[in-house]
This record gives sequence, structure tokens and C-alpha cells, in this order.
Amino acid sequence: MKKLAIVGASGHGKVVADLAELCGYQVVFFDDTYPNKTNVEHWQILGTLTDLLNRIGDYPNAIVAIGNNSIRCKLSNDLLSNGFKAPVLTHPSATVSKYATIKEGTVIFAHAVVNAFAKIETNCIINTSVIVEHDCVVGNSVHLSPSVALAGGTKIGELSWLGIGSVTKQLIEIGSNSIIGANSTVINNIPANVTVVGSPTVIKKIK
Ligand SMILES: CC(C)(COP(=O)(O)OP(=O)(O)OC[C@H]1O[C@@H](n2cnc3c(N)ncnc32)[C@H](O)[C@@H]1OP(=O)(O)O)[C@@H](O)C(=O)NCCC(=O)NCCS
Repeated sequence: MKKLAIVGASGHGKVVADLAELCGYQVVFFDDTYPNKTNVEHWQILGTLTDLLNRIGDYPNAIVAIGNNSIRCKLSNDLLSNGFKAPVLTHPSATVSKYATIKEGTVIFAHAVVNAFAKIETNCIINTSVIVEHDCVVGNSVHLSPSVALAGGTKIGELSWLGIGSVTKQLIEIGSNSIIGANSTVINNIPANVTVVGSPTVIKKIK
């Protein structure tokens, strides 16, 4: 059986482990924040990220399952630059067009739909029941929370986070490192480094 090391033994890590098993992997965890824990649920935690870096021979496939986009991005880059391979994990109930492009380390959860000519960059979380319509571009380490719907041609900059149930009008552009609040409706372009909420959205914070 193929082995997969998962970095991050929190709630998101457990969901990724479940998905990885459905994709045919045997799973172990590595996590810096739980140095004294040896297990999460029934899965083993074999050590820290440093331990994993020393065990590339045992675990050449590794994925970072940390919800925080910046941390996920940094640790994924560390692993890739050290020679690890990050698979794409796609739930069997998800529908991904053969004309879509999905880059390494991205996870696609149950009932998500990714339509033709969408492009999804590395280390993204495409959560339960998300819809990514045709020609969308989703940047590196973006998190689309459950039931997000991106209309055709939407572009999301790297590290942005769209809260649960938020939707975009077609051809919208959202800058990098921005947050879209839960259940928001995006009908105008959103700059980088802001938090917006509401329907239609208004800016609540600028980083
Ligand atoms: C947008 C969000 C990140 C803001 O969190 P925060 O920085 O802690 O901000 P606060 O809760 O202090 O709220 C700030 C203001 O925005 C409003 N607000 C926050 N989220 C909102 C939302 N989704 N819709 C409308 N208004 C919202 C608050 O009422 C508050 O308004 P006020 O300034 O008039 O009092 C958060 O509310 C949110 O929506 N998170 C998404 C959660 C999610 O989808 N989780 C799924 C993970 S898989």
C-alpha cells in the first residue's frame, strides 16, 4: 500500500487522513505542536517536521494538512524543496473535469465540482460541496470553505480564504491574502489583504 505522511494532526489533518485512505494511502502523522502525543485518533504521530525531513526514504509522499494558509504554504514549500512529492487527493464523490488543472498538494473533498478549464494551484483546500466553475483560477494555498461557489472565470489570489457558503459573481477578481466572510456575496473585485463580509460585501479590515 502507498504511504503518505501528513503534517498537522488537528481537525483538518484528520479529515485529510480520511480522504487519503479513500485514495488508497496508508497514513501516518508528523506534527511539531504535539511533541508528547503518539496518536491522533487511531493514527500514529511519528514525530516532528524535522523527523519527517530525515525520513524521506520511508515517506517520499507528504502533504501538509494545516488550515492556516500561510503556514500550510511555508511548510509545503519546505517539503517540496527537500524533494518530497505532494499528491493531489480527490474524494471519489467529487467531480473534476478532465480539462481542469489541479496542482500538487491540493485536496478536493466530497461532492466538490471543478468544471472545465478551471486551474487550481498548489496546496489548496477545496472543501466539501465547493463549486469551482469553468475557467476559474485559484491561487497557491487558497482555502475554499464548504459550499463556496465560484462563478465562471473568478480569479482568487494566493493565500486567500473564502468562508463557508460564500459566492462570487462571474469574472470577479479577489486579491491575495484576503478573507471573505461566511455566507458573503462578492459582486465587485476585492483587493489584496482585506477582510470583507456581507451581501454584497463591504470591507471590514485592512491588514
Ligand atoms: C470574516 C471572519 C473571518 C471575521 O472574523 P473576525 O476577524 O474574528 O471578526 P469579528 O467576528 O470580530 O467580526 C467583525 C465584524 O464583521 C461582522 N461579520 C463577521 N463575519 C461576518 C459574516 N460572515 N457576515 C456578515 N458580517 C460578519 C461582525 O458582525 C462584526 O461586525 P461589527 O464590526 O459591526 O461588530 C469570520 O466572521 C468568518 O466569517 N469566518 C468564516 C468561518 C468559516 O467559514 N469557517 C469554515 C472553515 S472550514
